[in-house]
Amino acid sequence: MREKRNFVDTIQPLTILSGIQPSGDLHLGNFFGAVRQYLQFIEGGHRCYYFLANYHALTSIRDPAQLRDLTRKTATNYLALGLDPDRCAIYRQSDLPEVCELQWILSTVTPMGLLERCHAWKDKVQQGLSADHGLFAYPVLQAADILIVRADRVPVGQDQKQHIEVSRDIAGYFNNIYGEVLRVPEPFIPEEVAVVPGRDGRKMSKSYRNTIEIFADDQEVKSQIYSIATDSASVADPKDPEKSNLYAILRLFCTPAEADEWADRFRSGGLGYGKVKQAILDRFMERFGPARARRKALEKDPGYVESVLMRGVSQAREAALPLMRQVRDAVGIPNP
Ligand code: TRP
Repeated sequence: MREKRNFVDTIQPLTILSGIQPSGDLHLGNFFGAVRQYLQFIEGGHRCYYFLANYHALTSIRDPAQLRDLTRKTATNYLALGLDPDRCAIYRQSDLPEVCELQWILSTVTPMGLLERCHAWKDKVQQGLSADHGLFAYPVLQAADILIVRADRVPVGQDQKQHIEVSRDIAGYFNNIYGEVLRVPEPFIPEEVAVVPGRDGRKMSKSYRNTIEIFADDQEVKSQIYSIATDSASVADPKDPEKSNLYAILRLFCTPAEADEWADRFRSGGLGYGKVKQAILDRFMERFGPARARRKALEKDPGYVESVLMRGVSQAREAALPLMRQVRDAVGIPNP
């Protein structure tokens, strides 16, 4: 059965952009919550920009070697997963420093109150921690990333919804003052994958230590999948798939028809959790085996990864430079 392609809401190619935190490893939540959508937009023939948010990462990583290393690793992972540099622009945020210039200009139309409501900063302050200006201004830089290429859609996970709303607001404030210069982007968050459950049933997240890592070694993957929490039902017991975390994870790998079949098997009893775990492991390896092999090869060729990033930023620049000229003209800053 064909996968539901709910993203094709127009025949015209759209401009798609998303930013990736260079966190190094990548789990199922990242994949189904975001990367899969990135790939679908490429398949759909849209103009795609995917970049490594290394300026943003400075708000949490203060070790230069680590930042460089994670950025390169993350680029390698995404290439391995099939982000095709012939069909999308993959670049490092910092190779397009004009985003910082745009961020400044945008910050002059951004009300403090808008940023004070943003969760990353608010949470930190509420925990009694001191937050720096970078974290406070984080959403303005994110708006600059998006607006600088005139993105129509921004595929992200649910956790980024607020930031995209803020980007829309900032574009609106700017346009109100200076005329219709900026394109107002829309978030793209497919409902069914908005939250991928982790091994303990909470949202899959590195901070909860409940992830299943796509590039962990074979033994580690197996132990992560086998440690998905289950209740104490016996093999014979009928089980409610809707209440099963295991089912929720298995389902990510299934077509709708397969998911229905598994749901029936859960309900009719006689299906042990061990069998389901093995099915998840098999599907995981089927799905990610090729990417895991590709990653090993790419890791040995950092020169190639670097060349992809250089090619990517020159494509991004083709969109960003004319936009920056319009923005400078609009506000009265001469073009350098
Ligand atoms: N804040 C995003 C995250 O944490 C990363 C990001 C930076 C981003 N700039 C972006 C996402 C622009 C979408 C668009 O995942």
